[in-house]
Amino acid sequence: MEVVIAPADELAVLAAAAIDALLRRKPEAVIGLATGSSPLKVYDELARRHAEEGLSFAQARGFMLDEYVGLPPEHPERYRNVIEREIASRVAWAPDRVQGPDGLAADLPAACAAYEAAIDAAGGVDLQLLGIGTDGHIAFNEPGSSLASRTRIKTLTKQTREDNARFFDGDVEQVPRHCLTQGLGTIMAARHLVLLATGKQKAEAVHQLVEGPISAMWPGTIMQMHPHATVLVDDAAASRL
Ligand code: GLP
Repeated sequence: MEVVIAPADELAVLAAAAIDALLRRKPEAVIGLATGSSPLKVYDELARRHAEEGLSFAQARGFMLDEYVGLPPEHPERYRNVIEREIASRVAWAPDRVQGPDGLAADLPAACAAYEAAIDAAGGVDLQLLGIGTDGHIAFNEPGSSLASRTRIKTLTKQTREDNARFFDGDVEQVPRHCLTQGLGTIMAARHLVLLATGKQKAEAVHQLVEGPISAMWPGTIMQMHPHATVLVDDAAASRL
């Protein structure tokens, strides 16, 4: 595991540069996309490189980490819409080349299995962007998640719903109770993991991720087993290392 400690703006440039290098080497690369605030500056930098430096996503594929269950198609916080707004539309990425788990499917377990099959059919994820929750979750793999899990339905913890209420007018009751999420096993199958964490509220999760024992109670710790994991943190998030 490689840990880089730098100001947030520099971390975003490092992550974007890794995606840029991958796309120039392999234009049909498969990129794993994360939501939350952590990757937003990376998406800004990718949009800038697209506009100013000709970085092309035309042949690339994108797979999202997770999705809320039950948010209506037009809801601005539906992760499919967040990804469209924050990155896909800004880099002219055709909508059918970016996929997420279908949180509106009538048969959710079947939608999870179909999503795993779609990732496999695309050849697997080349580079997976990740954030981390204050309780150590990655994607929506909450504490106690199987370290070998695949895409499935999960119940969000009270902590995560409270953390994410800021995206729902500060009202925790509006935050869905369930989600579909890639499992830790799915994420570990990606060829390069790039995790970003900034701010003091992430310090404990980063400490456990990098220095703690591997445990389902801190799901991000499974990344210690990955052969190519990059952890990008600012001073505040690194303050307990
Ligand atoms: C959500 C997402 C995660 C993300 C986490 C941290 O729960 N499902 O993928 O890593 O939030 O969010 P933020 O980056 O906003 O701190």
